[in-house]
Amino acid sequence: MEIKKVGVVGCGLMGSGVAQVAAMAGFPTVVREVSNELLSKGLGGIEKSLAKFAEKGQITAEQKAASFARLQPTLKLQDFAECDLVIEAIIENLDRKRELFRELDAIAKPEAIFASNTSSLSVTEMMTATRRASQFLGLHFFNPVPLMKLVEVVKTVATDAAVLESALAYARAVGKTPIVTSDRGGFIVNRLLVPYLLDSIRALEEGVGTIVDIDNGMKLGCGHPMGPLTLNDFVGIDTTFYISEIMFNEYREKRFAAPPLMKRMVAAGMLGRKSGKGFYDYSDPKNPKPNRELER
Ligand code: 3HC
Repeated sequence: MEIKKVGVVGCGLMGSGVAQVAAMAGFPTVVREVSNELLSKGLGGIEKSLAKFAEKGQITAEQKAASFARLQPTLKLQDFAECDLVIEAIIENLDRKRELFRELDAIAKPEAIFASNTSSLSVTEMMTATRRASQFLGLHFFNPVPLMKLVEVVKTVATDAAVLESALAYARAVGKTPIVTSDRGGFIVNRLLVPYLLDSIRALEEGVGTIVDIDNGMKLGCGHPMGPLTLNDFVGIDTTFYISEIMFNEYREKRFAAPPLMKRMVAAGMLGRKSGKGFYDYSDPKNPKPNRELER
């Protein structure tokens, strides 16, 4: 099935990026939030990101304006009626996602494909809230979506082969490289990344090294663009914590268990970059300072 019009539910960090790359690739894109305030915030982020691409000459001023104009912001799910592909990027809560898909199922045209951007929840359990099991899969983008080249395409036992092909073609059309994975908690990337992120916190707890030395170890020793503690702050300590809880529940393996320090940081609202403090203090965002309190 050819995808001509895209819908994105949620215009937060991930949803705004997913909508942006669709619009930049030429797809008319409906993007929905639950309030005007959240919608404006998400669109503001898209505008900033497009401006960065334009400043660097990666897109022209006309392409920037045309991309933005392809976005149709809305508060109403009814506006997804004509979309060929609807990508969900709301809060990581299975009940909320199932409820949303149940509603969308009654609104979207019968041939439309549904996708979730979930990072760790069961795509199969979301699928069962709809009557379009064969047209349901995961499309897991990475943060920051406009820059990261990967999309995990998650097939369930019920996903139709032609639907999988359409999803792969869509990922390529928005400039990404797709990889195919089955519906197992964390898929490929988070199955490998989450234990690594958790282990970096355990290393800090055990006094293996300072925050800066742990990060430099992986940056300079392994060529990673960010050290693991910086990446924890970037993704959000709460986000990785919730993902680890979901994965621990699925696998019951220690490598997915959140370390006590992480749990306490979440409780204290130390969520990383977005809250101004995590493993680093972002009071001066261009010059983050290690949070020495955590090294004691
Ligand atoms: N849109 C457009 N441009 C952007 C941007 C955005 N959203 N974000 C950053 N940029 C630009 C910056 O303006 C900068 O441009 P410049 O080179 O002209 O100054 C350039 O990208 C590089 O940014 P920075 O200088 O701020 O920093 P870095 O060189 O470190 O690059 C990064 C930033 C691309 C994020 C890089 O650090 C990186 O790849 N980090 C790893 C990210 C990662 O691992 N993501 C996956 C997280 S896991 C996930 O998403 C899964 C989920 O389920 C948890």
